[in-house]
Amino acid sequence: MVVLSCDHGGRDLALFLQECLVKDGICVEGAISLEQTVDYPCVIPWMVQKVRYDKKMGILVCGSGIGMSISANRYQGIRAALCHDETTARLARQHNNANILVLGGRLLGPVLAWQCVQVFLKTTFEGGHHQSRLAALEKDSKKVPFLYSSFQND
Ligand code: RB5
Repeated sequence: MVVLSCDHGGRDLALFLQECLVKDGICVEGAISLEQTVDYPCVIPWMVQKVRYDKKMGILVCGSGIGMSISANRYQGIRAALCHDETTARLARQHNNANILVLGGRLLGPVLAWQCVQVFLKTTFEGGHHQSRLAALEKDSKKVPFLYSSFQND
């Protein structure tokens, strides 16, 4: 199961990737808003919950990939990697155990982006000496995502 979301800058590529994933028989849960403008930080909490608590692999797409990766990496347990080719997608998994692949919808062609997704999903973390580095990363203070909704009545 893969979770997929985007802002308006990444929507076309995200819709294409969703189609590819489905065709490939991969179960995909998407949050793809059709609003004219979608602020990238707004889609992050949904993605973080799915990845951090449900342990799903995530894909985020915005125009450059930069805003999505900055936003996602503010949360504990998230290792979002902005990748631009098969090598970075592979290394993001092997060395960084990335749990979210971030792509720039205005920078990558659909074929290359789909290759990145395929490589990212099939590659496993190498562990070993990379593990202690990830443990060190987790000690940094980051936002803890909430798991509840709240209401107010006066
Ligand atoms: C939206 O226009 C664009 O700024 C956004 O998709 C992204 O590239 C930001 O990092």
